[in-house]
Amino acid sequence: MRVLVTGAGGMLGRDLVDVLAGYPEHTVTAATRAEVDITDADAVHAAVAGHDVVVNAAAWTDVDAAEQHEAAATAVNGDAVTDLARSCAAHGARLIQLSTDYVLAGDATAPYREDTPTAPLNAYGRGKLVGEQAVIRLLPDAGYVVRTAWLYGTHGRNFVTTVLGLAERREFLDVVDDQRGQPTWSYTLAHRLVALAEAALAGRAAPGVYHGTCSGETTWYELTRAVFALRGLDPDRVRPTTSARFPRPAPRPAYSVLGHGRWAAAGLPPLPDWHATLVDAFASPAPPSPGKVA
Ligand SMILES: NC(=O)c1ccc[n+]([C@@H]2O[C@H](COP(=O)([O-])OP(=O)(O)OC[C@H]3O[C@@H](n4cnc5c(N)ncnc54)[C@H](OP(=O)(O)O)[C@@H]3O)[C@@H](O)[C@H]2O)c1
Repeated sequence: MRVLVTGAGGMLGRDLVDVLAGYPEHTVTAATRAEVDITDADAVHAAVAGHDVVVNAAAWTDVDAAEQHEAAATAVNGDAVTDLARSCAAHGARLIQLSTDYVLAGDATAPYREDTPTAPLNAYGRGKLVGEQAVIRLLPDAGYVVRTAWLYGTHGRNFVTTVLGLAERREFLDVVDDQRGQPTWSYTLAHRLVALAEAALAGRAAPGVYHGTCSGETTWYELTRAVFALRGLDPDRVRPTTSARFPRPAPRPAYSVLGHGRWAAAGLPPLPDWHATLVDAFASPAPPSPGKVA
């Protein structure tokens, strides 16, 4: 398998390149933003040539800034993905596009199926939906959308590294307890993306939408308590609060729990439980570590 990873310098992209390094049978081209800016359609077209699979981990990921700069965010998350899908169609490559729970309304009470109608509630979600729809439309036989959410990992700033940083400077942390989701280790997702790419090439995975989040569900408050416990810190330093106390430019969904029904048809199990995965992440050679706190 000849794989091109775009956005290879990001949190997920770096894990994906690390995971692929463990597969000597696959040839990997890792393209950071400096190497391939996905908004440069000519550069993308040239980069895709000679690859069987493209995994696009590049994105505008500043959700709050997207509210003020929707066109710029959509240029990366929507328009550039459209061009990327066209290039994949022209070169006969499969495309695995990373997307987000934010394309959904976030007001459900049971896990979202992959075919639930989309209804993004913020600008970032609208831009990512443009990308999703282009992949499905332009690559009906070779387009894969993997929605993820609540990602944490070793490389880059994320919720887990942020609370670890805050734990070093504050006695108590007030964390929202009214948003539900599925914390997902980027390294676990990276493994799943490789498995999906292999299944796609072997004709075992139907194109379309998959949900790449860990199983189970929790809240940011419970996640923070779990992180504290794994770090040997007192979880009672974490106190529950509500989203109303932390207004942000981009609205956040209250319920971001995704169902995993489509993996079985590709011969793959759902991703593992979020808490077991968090334990693995902290036991790994490169656990999440305290990040810079603004
Ligand atoms: N993190 C989450 O919780 C989360 C949740 C839902 C979905 N996702 C999706 O998961 C995927 C991976 O996210 P992540 O957490 O790994 O994000 P990340 O750490 O912010 O990585 C994104 C990467 O994309 C690069 N990039 C931005 N604009 C680009 C462009 N025009 N051309 C090429 N590269 C560009 C960034 O480079 P610079 O750093 O130089 O800007 C960065 O290296 C994205 O599709 C994201 O939307 C993430």
